[in-house]
Amino acid sequence: MFNKETYTQRRETLRKNVKEGIILILGNVDVPMNYRSNTYRFRQDSNFLYYFGLDQQGLAGVLDADSGEEILFGDDLTLDDIIWMGPQPSIQERAARAGISRTMPFGKLAEFLGKAVSDGRRIHFPPPYRAENKLLLEQLLGIKPADQPSQASADLIKAIVAQRSVKEAQEILEIEKAMDVAWLMHTTAMKMAKPGVFEHEIAGVVEGIAISADGMLSFPLILSINGETLHNHAHNNKLEEGRLLLMDGGAETAMHYATDHTRTMPVGGRFSQKQKEIYEIVLNAQLKAIQNIKPGVPFRNIHMLAAETIADGLKAAGLMKGDVKEAVEKGAHALFMPHGLGHMMGLDVHDMEDLGEDYVGYDDEVKRSDIFGTAFLRLGRKLQSGFVLTVEPGIYFIPALIEKWEQEGKFREYINYDAIKPYLGFGGIRIEDDILVTDDGYRVLGRPIPKTVADVERMMNEGV
Ligand code: GLY
Ligand code: MN
Repeated sequence: MFNKETYTQRRETLRKNVKEGIILILGNVDVPMNYRSNTYRFRQDSNFLYYFGLDQQGLAGVLDADSGEEILFGDDLTLDDIIWMGPQPSIQERAARAGISRTMPFGKLAEFLGKAVSDGRRIHFPPPYRAENKLLLEQLLGIKPADQPSQASADLIKAIVAQRSVKEAQEILEIEKAMDVAWLMHTTAMKMAKPGVFEHEIAGVVEGIAISADGMLSFPLILSINGETLHNHAHNNKLEEGRLLLMDGGAETAMHYATDHTRTMPVGGRFSQKQKEIYEIVLNAQLKAIQNIKPGVPFRNIHMLAAETIADGLKAAGLMKGDVKEAVEKGAHALFMPHGLGHMMGLDVHDMEDLGEDYVGYDDEVKRSDIFGTAFLRLGRKLQSGFVLTVEPGIYFIPALIEKWEQEGKFREYINYDAIKPYLGFGGIRIEDDILVTDDGYRVLGRPIPKTVADVERMMNEGV
């Protein structure tokens, strides 16, 4: 974890911004996989990590915004626990690492909050996303899980988003640490992408790289020759010459800061002319988008620029037609790129999405579009120095979507359905990097992972 002053200062800012009442931040608990003592790998809640830094289960933090009092709720281990788990720091020692002096047993949390409620205090909590914490919150505050999203504190959510959106220098260093792991994950996949290899053979090695670096994947790996399926977590296909392989994968460090990159490569190491043509359009859109990143620019504009660049390229390739700007405004490009250009990244790969996408990505100035495709943009608001975000345009040939739109005669004035036919079975291409917004522009984070046609082919064939 960072030093205790980091957490003390973050909590002080949070208390000041929330202004009044009691702030309750629940840590996560171990979740059974098939029986109680056989659990999924533990992942601490990111808000809890941000304000308390403690990466153990069974903790809760309470901050009094009026008095400034801070309490860590948690239990010391029993002798039985120590026999199974070995000696562990006491709860008092853990609290001290986070700069907190007062601790209470976890079992006292309900009584503490009950008294605060009966004293007329407001309890601010973020919306829980795990069943265990939804049930716990119901026990603690008597609010049913279905009512918890609407009763979560908008004041708290806004204060957390304001703070976590702008990364500290030490957070950026931590994200950059994970970048070396990301480089190794992606270049290893490039070297392994040979005909006859199964997707799961590569997926296992890639996940192993993240774990070997004392971290884990930042989300379940997307690695597929069916790259047109945007979030495909199955890895059962055998790679065949002539197919594209898309890998969207990220690492997180031991402190849980994430990376998120996508690369698309030709199985066997050489792009066909047809693949190259589409690849260059996506790459051009990605580079153009990145070059336009700077504080004050709404990311929505950058998304639209990338969409126009893609539509422009597809028009030159004969797959789209008509007025490009108009086509993109109406959403015709979404046949090929039905997702947003990117999202915030930090302690979560989609940073703070538990708090609500609209709080993270939109504000009073920039509202979410309701047009198919553009509506899936997770980040639309104006960029600020210190934001870390992804830029990930793509072109996909999704047979079910193409068939449906063609049957409906949708956007016939912008789409050449006949010209698309030879691309059914092509798959999909996405290229994704992680960008820091700086005071005067941007910085692409990490050791560059090959992404030009020549560089990808070189890494695949020569290993450099
Ligand atoms: N890398 C997965 C996503 O951004 O949705
Ligand atoms: Mn992403």
